[in-house]
Amino acid sequence: MKILVTGGLGFIGSNFIRYMLRRYPSVRIVNLDKQTYAGNPASLRDVEEDPRYRYHRGDICDAEAVDKAIRGVDAVAHFAAESHVDKSILDAGAFLQTNVIGTQILLDAALRHEVGRFLHVSTDEVYGSVAKGHSTEDDPLLPNSPYAASKAASDLLVRSYIVTHKLPAVVSRASNNFGPYQYPEKALPLLITNFLDDVPFPLYGDGRNVRDWLYVLDHARALDLILREGEIGGIYNVGGSYSSTNRELIDRVRRLMDKPRDLVRRVPDRPGHDRRYALDCSKLRRLGWRPETEFRRALADTIGWYRTNETWWRSLKLKGGYRDYYKKQYGKRGKS
Ligand code: NAD
Ligand code: TYD
Repeated sequence: MKILVTGGLGFIGSNFIRYMLRRYPSVRIVNLDKQTYAGNPASLRDVEEDPRYRYHRGDICDAEAVDKAIRGVDAVAHFAAESHVDKSILDAGAFLQTNVIGTQILLDAALRHEVGRFLHVSTDEVYGSVAKGHSTEDDPLLPNSPYAASKAASDLLVRSYIVTHKLPAVVSRASNNFGPYQYPEKALPLLITNFLDDVPFPLYGDGRNVRDWLYVLDHARALDLILREGEIGGIYNVGGSYSSTNRELIDRVRRLMDKPRDLVRRVPDRPGHDRRYALDCSKLRRLGWRPETEFRRALADTIGWYRTNETWWRSLKLKGGYRDYYKKQYGKRGKS
């Protein structure tokens, strides 16, 4: 099977590519990635020389680049996106461009090239905040951030291509991923790398927002299964084995890293901050998947990974773009 992966230099895409190359000796992967600030060739250094892997630097919004990359593939696994909520609040433009227009360009190319399967990688954030219970795949889409709105728009676009054009597509909606190679803007890698430097973690609001944590390799396994065995037109929630408030999560990390309580600085809340996400994953469980990694072990492994791969994340944090973003996002928010 030959798969076009978009956004394969990002966090989840790079873990997925590595997983697929390990699992399937005869798989071939074409990776189309624009190499935005979040796309890092160093994340796939170990597979660069693998003859089954090919990298195209290109934008999913560029129909010609997509046309070249998609030629001859059996399936598309579409990860490419602008993915950080806080950045979408600062400026939503790139989110609409890549997540919506880019997805449309990719869908059109998949139709033209009669691709056998199209996996659209989406998020639980499209359901919005859930006060009680768990979101099912039939729940209404009530996105609250520009990021979530752009992902919801792309989910609906995929749906329209399934219905109108009979595109053989499936959609996955995962919860908060964590693990190696995650860009240090999202909460967990920011927390770990700040703690490694004894720099306080900026905690939004009262810290009682609830997230469901999914280890990225459990996600990769789920995506592989959905790509191969998901029902065409189907949507599958993918949740982890551990749900917690941000405060509880920080406390666990703090204890594992042996850091003092005052290494957390309260900052004003994120505007529109979703209070709670929770997924009902029974549909995917019926397909035979469940999260296998024990949370405590996965968290310890992830901390260990950031400890031993300091050059990977430090080079990102030293870049001007990261420092400017950090200042804009946290600089003016004052002390706790
Ligand atoms: P990421 O930000 O780490 O990586 C995104 C990748 O897409 C980068 O390599 C970037 O260079 C590439 N990219 C961005 N714009 C592009 C464009 N126009 N053309 C080609 N490539 C482009 O993101 P991630 O965390 O790995 O998320 C991957 C996907 O999974 C996204 O679609 C996201 O919405 C979804 N998702 C993420 C999470 C999470 O917790 N991180 C949870 C659920 C769903
Ligand atoms: P994040 O990793 O940005 O994911 P999400 O898309 O779910 O918002 O944030 C996870 C949680 O951590 C979320 O409730 C917001 C919170 N958070 C902070 O408190 N401080 C931060 O600096 C960041 C980035 C997130």
